[in-house]
Amino acid sequence: MKVLVIGPGGREHAIVRSLLADPNVSEVHSAPGNAGIATLVPTHAIDANNPEAVANLALKLGADLVVVGPEAPLAAGVSDAVREAGIPVFGPSREAAQLEASKAFAKQVMAEANVPTAMAKVAVNAEEAADALDTFGAPYVVKDDGLAAGKGVVVTKDRDEALAHAQTCFDAGGSVVIEEFLDGPEVSLFVLCDGRTTVPLVPAQDFKRIFDGDEGPNTGGMGAYTPLNWAPEGLVQEVIDRVAQPTVDEMARRGTPFIGVLFCGLALTSRGTRVIEFNARFGDPETQAVLARLKTPLGGVLMAAAKGELDKAEELRWSKESAVAVVVAANNYPGTPRTGDRIRGLKKVEAIDGVHVIHAGTALNEDGKVVSAGGRVLAVVALGADLVKAREKAYDGVELVQLEGSVFRTDIAAKAARGEIKVSGPRTGALPVTKLSSAASPTSTKEDS
Ligand code: AMP
Ligand code: GLY
Repeated sequence: MKVLVIGPGGREHAIVRSLLADPNVSEVHSAPGNAGIATLVPTHAIDANNPEAVANLALKLGADLVVVGPEAPLAAGVSDAVREAGIPVFGPSREAAQLEASKAFAKQVMAEANVPTAMAKVAVNAEEAADALDTFGAPYVVKDDGLAAGKGVVVTKDRDEALAHAQTCFDAGGSVVIEEFLDGPEVSLFVLCDGRTTVPLVPAQDFKRIFDGDEGPNTGGMGAYTPLNWAPEGLVQEVIDRVAQPTVDEMARRGTPFIGVLFCGLALTSRGTRVIEFNARFGDPETQAVLARLKTPLGGVLMAAAKGELDKAEELRWSKESAVAVVVAANNYPGTPRTGDRIRGLKKVEAIDGVHVIHAGTALNEDGKVVSAGGRVLAVVALGADLVKAREKAYDGVELVQLEGSVFRTDIAAKAARGEIKVSGPRTGALPVTKLSSAASPTSTKEDS
């Protein structure tokens, strides 16, 4: 099978890497890719957000499957164009991708499907914003309604700061969603969907803030790990039963079936599990950690999802090892990052047993040397017998990366490795009863093979 992977980032590098390990995948292509992907497969310099350009490339290559990585091409309708060209595509239609592209739309679907989430109000002007902030009280949560690369959310105790963020969004012609604050640890669960059937991957945790101790502004994600050795038993099944399957059923009922990854961003609050957000794609950098543990060949699973045959796909098998991904970001990220700096030491990193480098914002300069080309530059991904060992190896690798002015968090997976994450509150059974799905749902996934 020949697969075309759309997108430029670390998530796509991780997907390409896993596809290459699938014996049934004969050829992988990438567009536009990055310097790391280009060492593995042919890359094609097209505009990945242009549906026609992507469909034409897929036809020209004779691709059997197209995998769309990022949210922007999904929201632009790339999947629709590829599907219309008669090629199976792993990625939701433009309409289904609204689950991510519009937070207000996601809230409507969740309300309809009885999915537990934060109470929220949409505001389109300062008066409405002030009203909503006072309804929920501090800490305040203000979200840009549209796509903002993980940076559109402000969580603050400062009412003026909350109002100022809302005003910035209004000034840009947008609206905001203001919601109640959700306490408790966060979980990212990726659920593969074929429009009807849902299959969960293993849960992971992401680190959104730029600085250690979850300080500073939000980023696209500074690191991730799996497994969650602290997660309540039955969490995955709870999320399938109460979140993913009802959402997929509701999307099908609306005539806009969801095919691709339903990324459930969850908070395990003291009052139960709540959805913080949906994304319509794999998470970055969680994918780098999650796919490092996947033993089942990825191409076959994604093809089954694209063709509506997930109920017939083989059960997912996972390595018992732990995976930790640490992002190395450019100077000044998440502000405008410094780019064009040489990156050295990557070969030494890869020489560590069980460690590999996933490129995100990298490019080759005129001399063919790897330079920084974006905010999140790369991730060092390590597998180890447990989180302590995986962390050690990941940070051994990070220390060998030479990139002037670069930054990374030193506490990725640290609390989990020390056993310091506690979940309180009711879990399964304490949530509002949802309509149970009629669709067959082979949600089992074996963690120990
Ligand atoms: P989002 O773009 O919706 O994923 O939000 C980015 C980050 O902001 C989340 O990962 C959380 O850390 C934080 N956040 C979003 N919504 C809430 C909420 N209602 N309560 C607490 N934190 C939130
Ligand atoms: N790491 C979170 C995201 O991909 O949005």
